[in-house]
Amino acid sequence: MIHIEKVKELMSELNGLFEEIRNKNELETLKAEYMGKNGKITLLNQMIKEIPNEDKKEFGMQVNELKNKFNSEFAKVAQELEEAEINEKLNSEAIDVSLPGTKIEVGNAHPIERIIESLEALLMSMGYDVIEGPEVEKDLYNFELLNLPKGHPARDAQDTFYIKGEEYLLRSQTSPVQARCMLAHEGKDPIRIICPGKTYRRDEDDATHSHQFTQMEGLLIDTGITLGDLKGTFEEIAKMLFGKSRSTRFRPSFYPFTEPSVEMDISCFNCNGKGCNICKGTGWITVGGAGMVNPIVLRNCGYDPNKWNGFAFGFGIERLAMLKYGINDVRTFYINHDIKTLKQFDRREY
Ligand code: DAH
Repeated sequence: MIHIEKVKELMSELNGLFEEIRNKNELETLKAEYMGKNGKITLLNQMIKEIPNEDKKEFGMQVNELKNKFNSEFAKVAQELEEAEINEKLNSEAIDVSLPGTKIEVGNAHPIERIIESLEALLMSMGYDVIEGPEVEKDLYNFELLNLPKGHPARDAQDTFYIKGEEYLLRSQTSPVQARCMLAHEGKDPIRIICPGKTYRRDEDDATHSHQFTQMEGLLIDTGITLGDLKGTFEEIAKMLFGKSRSTRFRPSFYPFTEPSVEMDISCFNCNGKGCNICKGTGWITVGGAGMVNPIVLRNCGYDPNKWNGFAFGFGIERLAMLKYGINDVRTFYINHDIKTLKQFDRREY
């Protein structure tokens, strides 16, 4: 019977056929060649229609045997390939735990950022929110509402970058956020905010001046607030930044937005108050300005001074960082340092 001959032929063709298979692709190609839609075994199987009835059974059995042989060889080789793949993966991905690790270099916070973050952490623990204001500001917020009308002599102290005429400027201080914040609260709620950010003045850059620098503003509005509350707050800040043994003092000063106004001094951390070149022999170092919010400013910004009062303060962040880290040129902060320089600040506490 010619068909049985065909089955036998295929059967012997299968011998050794799988031995040459090297990968899954070849295996799949082989499967298509024999068992696919037009595969050799599939086509043979379809011939059953042409087989005379008395031979059908025999033919069917033979073709089944052929299929079984193909399938079992196929399964065997598929499994071998799978195992080989897993072994290869295990070998190539093996981890030698005794090898030294690769050190991952992490970035380092800039000293200015460190001071800001430590102030934020402390003041947030006292219930302050951190807010932001725009660097391109209106004269209205930067000066007018803060009791610095046009022509006021105190404006001269802040030589300002104006943008297109007189209405817009680069903020010369972070104080305008006070006005913005009070107006936003419409004279209704107590306020506790700090606002760190960039400020700009038309200064010649030298060791202690930069046309762009960083300030942090603080504002507290409530009822029955006293200068003593400001002093207590400042004392916490001073001790956090410069150590528990610092003492603090207020010196009378003048700012148009506060009345009374003070300069905030700390006892010199270098000589402990005896007098040295850092404190210029005075034993004290000025670190910021502050005062009780001027009733004029409260009224300008929608708060009734008969009901509300509060204090405000402002720090120059570069100055704090220079004092804290012993840096004597403000320009150092704006150079693109390599990581080694910044790493020095790792070992110092806030
Ligand atoms: N804005 C002031 C400056 O740039 C600093 C300052 C002083 C801010 C007293 C205040 C304050 O809020 O009450 O020199």
